[in-house]
Amino acid sequence: MNVVWILFTAFVFTAAKTEEKVNDRPIIGILTQEIDYNLNKKYPNQYHSYIAASYVKFVEGAGARSVPIWIGGNDSYYEDILSKINGVLWPGGATYFFQKEGYADAGDAIYRIAKKINERGEYFPILGICLGFELLTYVAANRVEHRTLCSSNSQPLPLEFMRDFRDSNMFKNAPSNVIRILARENVTANYHHYCVTKKDLRRVNLTDEFHVLSMNRDKKGLKFISTLEHKQFPFYGLQFHPEKNLYEWVTGKNIPHGHNATVVSQYFANFFINEARKNSHEFRTKEEEEQRLIYNYPVTYTAPQNSTYEQCYMFKKSDRDGLLIENDI
Ligand SMILES: *[C@@H]1O[C@H](CO)[C@@H](O)[C@H](O)[C@H]1NC(C)=O
Ligand SMILES: *[C@@H]1O[C@H](CO)[C@@H](O)[C@H](O)[C@H]1NC(C)=O
Ligand SMILES: *[C@@H]1O[C@H](CO)[C@@H](O)[C@H](O)[C@H]1NC(C)=O
Ligand SMILES: *[C@@H]1O[C@H](CO)[C@@H](O)[C@H](O)[C@H]1NC(C)=O
Ligand SMILES: *[C@@H]1O[C@H](CO)[C@@H](O)[C@H](O)[C@H]1NC(C)=O
Repeated sequence: MNVVWILFTAFVFTAAKTEEKVNDRPIIGILTQEIDYNLNKKYPNQYHSYIAASYVKFVEGAGARSVPIWIGGNDSYYEDILSKINGVLWPGGATYFFQKEGYADAGDAIYRIAKKINERGEYFPILGICLGFELLTYVAANRVEHRTLCSSNSQPLPLEFMRDFRDSNMFKNAPSNVIRILARENVTANYHHYCVTKKDLRRVNLTDEFHVLSMNRDKKGLKFISTLEHKQFPFYGLQFHPEKNLYEWVTGKNIPHGHNATVVSQYFANFFINEARKNSHEFRTKEEEEQRLIYNYPVTYTAPQNSTYEQCYMFKKSDRDGLLIENDI
């Protein structure tokens, strides 16, 4: 009788603990980057950094809110912000990895801190898209440049899955229609002139650290990695742009907008946000959360200025400076 009772309470306790771990109000930090060359031409010297709004919509469309993460912070800033959010998104774009106080410096700090958070037992996911995918292996390689120049601009592709791709967080629970579409249809939007090949990964000793889940070929036949995940931590990379299928409308760039293309894009958004629900970080107060959310910033309709982005959040240096300091509220 006693044993049964103990087993029963143990079961209830475990169930309650697991239950408690699901965070249905996740907040994603989206890394800003140096203002884009073209945006700077259209809005001369007004802005310091930006986020294309499609990334904000991508997380919102899967049930999360977002806060911008500034470039140019120090480790205390990144430690503080990561302790309050549930995951990080590294957007694509076009910036250099060697720029001082830039995107890659921030990515490097975030990667080191996110590893530590996971090591102490708090699940903390990172998703890198396109340039963010490249950033993932770049910082994992201790900033040893290893990308190969390639030619995959405006190239919609199906994924060529590796044999064991189902043996992954990213795809183990993917519905069969999602896999069927990804494997057969030109639904992934590729816009990159750098690729990471398997040889590149080997060169920086990352073969055992990452699980390559799919490959693709660029316009000249070069085989590149299109999806991967870290073997130990919930860190994911997509070389293509799932957010564009849903939220970017520039013409002439072959962005897939059909029903099936949106189904697979939404899959990646839902997958990532569900990973973030496993983290329970939160801001110390409601006021602090309100002060950090992206809703504080205006969004600009940039497409009429011939930007490839429909809308952008563009930030002045002064937007950031007050918030780099840890706020005691
Ligand atoms: C969309 O995907 C479904 C499920 O795999 C498939 O049956 C259908 O033919 C696809 N539609 C188009 C237009 O390709
Ligand atoms: C995908 O695109 C390639 C290259 O443009 C084309 O040859 C192929 O027929 C397309 N596949 C499908 C299923 O539409
Ligand atoms: C990879 O490992 C080899 C052998 O241990 C070492 O010589 C080389 O410096 C490493 N390369 C990098 C980029 O870490
Ligand atoms: C956008 O591009 C078109 C075609 O190149 C050009 O005619 C137009 O002036 C551009 N608009 C702006 C605001 O730069
Ligand atoms: C980090 O930056 C903030 C704001 O610029 C500053 O207040 C703080 O002293 C810095 N911390 C360290 C450890 O350098």
